[in-house]
Amino acid sequence: MAEIEIDTLGEDVPLLEGIRTTRSLRRLKPDPVPPALIRKVCEAATFAPSGGNRQPWFFVAVTEPERKAWIADRYRPAFLEYIAPAVEAAKDPEYPETQRKNMRAAIHLAEHLHEAPVLLFVAGWTRRGRPQLQALMPAVQNVLLACRAVGLGACLTQLHLAFGREIDEWLGLPENCPSCAMIPIGWPRGRYARPSRRSVDTCLFWERAEGID
Ligand SMILES: Cc1cc2nc3c(=O)[nH]c(=O)nc-3n(C[C@H](O)[C@H](O)[C@H](O)COP(=O)(O)O)c2cc1C
Repeated sequence: MAEIEIDTLGEDVPLLEGIRTTRSLRRLKPDPVPPALIRKVCEAATFAPSGGNRQPWFFVAVTEPERKAWIADRYRPAFLEYIAPAVEAAKDPEYPETQRKNMRAAIHLAEHLHEAPVLLFVAGWTRRGRPQLQALMPAVQNVLLACRAVGLGACLTQLHLAFGREIDEWLGLPENCPSCAMIPIGWPRGRYARPSRRSVDTCLFWERAEGID
């Protein structure tokens, strides 16, 4: 893809339309993604807000097949163990179809993680010895929105955290800069569309919340 296309790609997506149609796209083509495009989505991430404008984030893009396989070999069993109760519950014919679809896509991702062109890790400085997930999530959301804008499929994942320091060490991240998210990125097989969400009218209150239990 020519440099000029990368500069202009995604610049015309209306902001709210982009927000409303950003869903998890976990079925990815193995075709390579230009590094300049990964730089572009990470640049979007750097415009996120952060406490005191500390900008604690770092991004590690893993693309080498053996390195992706090493991560996938850890993510897969952790994810399949996590999802096992839902797989059991989904045997019930009453199980909601949207959740069943979502679960299938998540299992597909776990089984094909090594084929995703890029595994993007988002990491950040700890504060008073604690990981600062909340400081990094706005940047993570910007990655997802920027992927939506340029047409790349992406999904926020966290199951790699089950491995504690092992994956971070292997990524070269020091103890005071742990990862908080892994975002598989690639050209999607599916399409961006409105995800299934409950209506804002079920969660917006004025002055005082009522009936939440
Ligand atoms: C904090 C967090 C952690 C998540 N971890 C994973 C994960 O490990 N694996 C995965 O496939 N999806 C993960 N997801 C994606 C959610 O499953 C997804 O956003 C949700 O099912 C809604 O799907 P949709 O965005 O396509 O509508 C995570 C999402 C969040 C917000």
